[in-house]
Amino acid sequence: MNNFDFCVGTHILFGKGQVERLPEILSPFGKKVLLTYGGGSIKRMGLYDRVRELLADFEVWELNGIEPNPRIESVYAGEKLCRDNGIDVILAVGGGSVIDCSKAIAAASCSDEDAWELVKDPDKIEKALPLCTVLTLAATGSEMNTGSVITNLKTKEKLGFLNDAMLPKASILDPTYTLTVPADQTAAGAADILSHIMEVYFSRPYAPIPDGISESLMKVVFRYAPIAVREPDNYEAREQLMWASTLALNGLCSTGKGQAWPCHAIEHELSAWYDITHGTGLAILTPRWMRHVLNEGTVDQFVAYAVNVWGIPADADRFAVANRAIDRTEDFFRSIGIPMTLGELNIDDALFPEMAEHAVRFGGLEWSWVPLDKDAVVEILKQCL
Ligand code: NZQ
Ligand code: ZN
Repeated sequence: MNNFDFCVGTHILFGKGQVERLPEILSPFGKKVLLTYGGGSIKRMGLYDRVRELLADFEVWELNGIEPNPRIESVYAGEKLCRDNGIDVILAVGGGSVIDCSKAIAAASCSDEDAWELVKDPDKIEKALPLCTVLTLAATGSEMNTGSVITNLKTKEKLGFLNDAMLPKASILDPTYTLTVPADQTAAGAADILSHIMEVYFSRPYAPIPDGISESLMKVVFRYAPIAVREPDNYEAREQLMWASTLALNGLCSTGKGQAWPCHAIEHELSAWYDITHGTGLAILTPRWMRHVLNEGTVDQFVAYAVNVWGIPADADRFAVANRAIDRTEDFFRSIGIPMTLGELNIDDALFPEMAEHAVRFGGLEWSWVPLDKDAVVEILKQCL
């Protein structure tokens, strides 16, 4: 195994009714709260009203309208609210976009640097305001990790960045709040969870502890995502997806493994240029990337995936077994309603060279399991058309 650090100090409060403990988790940080949320889903489900009631003894400011694929302008707006009002703690209520934007606000509010400079060079982040979250969408794992992804539409950049200071102090995970997530976002969230697991699972030789955990999590998503898409009110499916999303990207699955995140690097280009849903882009890319990297050096990991996750017997040629698993992966994404070509999203090949160059330059693709250069990325994107 590679050496690793594993220290995830987010207090998770999981299950029905945990939101009632909001005052208890916020109080240690102070009385002035910035409440952040998105385009209104928390109002429609009644969560906003309950949160405001629970915050009755706090002074509350609000930043609403945070976009999916959150933009740097929202970070600036939140930073201003924090500075002008001496905010003590940020409470993010929403999906990954709201949480990511709030992380960037938390960091920018404690720095003399411009917020976009911190996104580009997170080593400059020295501290951040404390952040607590109430999660409403199972997908990103942002509720228990140090990452954030911010988009700058002017420069056509969507950049992920990490810093320990941005780790949420506490996150409330009540699957009830995900019952209202529409089918397309449920499916995209499932694809995102799977991609977080696969980006690490498919790197370096088989590692029994993290890869065994990853296989269990993948089986959970393959089993419960179709149920949640079909039956949005199915609480059991929602709770399984919610906990899988958190564990998929809190560092547990990557202990001792190498990682390079090629599909994420390429997908962030698609989102930056075309503002598509992150998980949808990942679902389209993943099987095509798998076929591209399948070779003598990687085939055994694909066979392990085929046998341990899909139950495919290893009784044929290794490449045939691997390809059956890749086909099953693609069929799965299609079966939960994800449009599986870029053409269906009205994306053509016009910007592929530019996107590929940027993905290679900023995505660290030369260190991936199978190193990818610009031509390789263009080829993978063409397979997605
Ligand atoms: O804005 P509202 O009205 O809340 O609606 C949202 C949004 O339109 C809606 N939604 C959320 N919860 C809902 C709901 N609708 C009904 N009922 C609910 N309970 O869903 C839409 C998408 O929300 P968003 O937060 O954008 O989705 P997600 O959680 O998938 O986050 C995606 C963002 O996270 C980044 C992605 O790149 C993307 O920008 N990522 C963050 C990561 C991290 N911090 O570790 C890792 C990921 O790989 C990812 O890159
Ligand atoms: Zn992701």
